Amino acid sequence: MDKKTIRDIDVAGKKVIVRVDFNVPLKDGEITDETRIQAALPTIKYLLEQNAKVILCSHLGRPKGEFKPEFSLAPVAKRLQELLPNNKVVFAKDVIGESADEAVKNIQNGEVVLLENLRFHKEETKNDPEFAKKLASYADIYVSDAFGTVHRAHASTAAIAQYLPAVAGFLIEKELQFLGNALENPVRPFVAILGGAKIADKIGVIDNLFTKVDSLIIGGGMANTFIAAQGIDMKASLVDNDSIEVAKELLAKAKMKGVKILLPSDVIAADRFDNDAKTVMVPVENIPDGYMALDIGPSTRLIFAEEISKAKTIVWNGPMGVAEMSAFAGGTRAVAEAMANAEDAITIIGGGDSAAAVKALGFGDKMSHISTGGGASLEFLEGKELPGVAALNDK
Ligand code: 3PG
Repeated sequence: MDKKTIRDIDVAGKKVIVRVDFNVPLKDGEITDETRIQAALPTIKYLLEQNAKVILCSHLGRPKGEFKPEFSLAPVAKRLQELLPNNKVVFAKDVIGESADEAVKNIQNGEVVLLENLRFHKEETKNDPEFAKKLASYADIYVSDAFGTVHRAHASTAAIAQYLPAVAGFLIEKELQFLGNALENPVRPFVAILGGAKIADKIGVIDNLFTKVDSLIIGGGMANTFIAAQGIDMKASLVDNDSIEVAKELLAKAKMKGVKILLPSDVIAADRFDNDAKTVMVPVENIPDGYMALDIGPSTRLIFAEEISKAKTIVWNGPMGVAEMSAFAGGTRAVAEAMANAEDAITIIGGGDSAAAVKALGFGDKMSHISTGGGASLEFLEGKELPGVAALNDK
């Protein structure tokens, strides 16, 4: 990586403000998935071992610039104290107010302060320089370890880097290493698997991947638009009619570039969008009137698994069907299983829905890397500059 990391800077005894992504799911005030907290621990522990004073800041959800108790980071502070039993963790009840000022003033070496949700201030998402400056005034060094948020140009991810030495933490380093190596230096064959509902969200990714991959597997709702672009009537399935022309162009481009594209040849089609719907397994040409494709079918699963088994680098983003409904999770499971079985391949899961599905299906520890960033990994795969990385100091 061409950006400085916490290894390149002396942090001993310094006040270090670390932007983390503690945007974790909560239910009735309880954290239901603490992956992102765990993922930030190596950086936090390293700084604490170096006797730094660690000031953590994060967003949680989208409270739109005002205090809303359900978006408080208080449950995260509590969990963090359990995970760091030997270091004092203080929770500041505001971001740049009295409580934060006081906590930062009193922090000692080897202690942690977690500020309240950054997005309780509208200045955060506006990348406001004054807000960034106030945050920066709390510390001597800025560390970015919020990979999940590096695609956002916000005060705590972008503007703040103008006011302090700015370096990457271990999570950002690891994420960029896995994703970057896959894109720039893949062990071949390199197969990318894309799914999810909307083709519009993935056009940039597909376009960029054409110059990198050997084959591209497409499933999920977005596959419907590609199949429809070949003149097949997808009946009641979700098809993005505005993207048919783009889909045609992408298919033509793949041919020109010699990239193999695999689309579903059969599907599980349902008479309504419901886990208890009546279903049929049919070739894509034979979807009955009024039925919609909600998962890839058994032949497609075999073909996709076969392609995956031959790959040496595999990147996956987006489920193959409506994976949150058990009746339509089979395709996603089959792909996760095929990746888990590809033992000598480098297997990378983009964050978001596919990461959640892989973990829920019990294949989490079989993958080489599960990204903590959904939107961020997608923008990286798209070849876009990530503002939260661009802002950091070069080596
Ligand atoms: C995420 O969950 O993808 C990140 O935390 C970013 O959140 P955001 O989409 O609300 O900016």
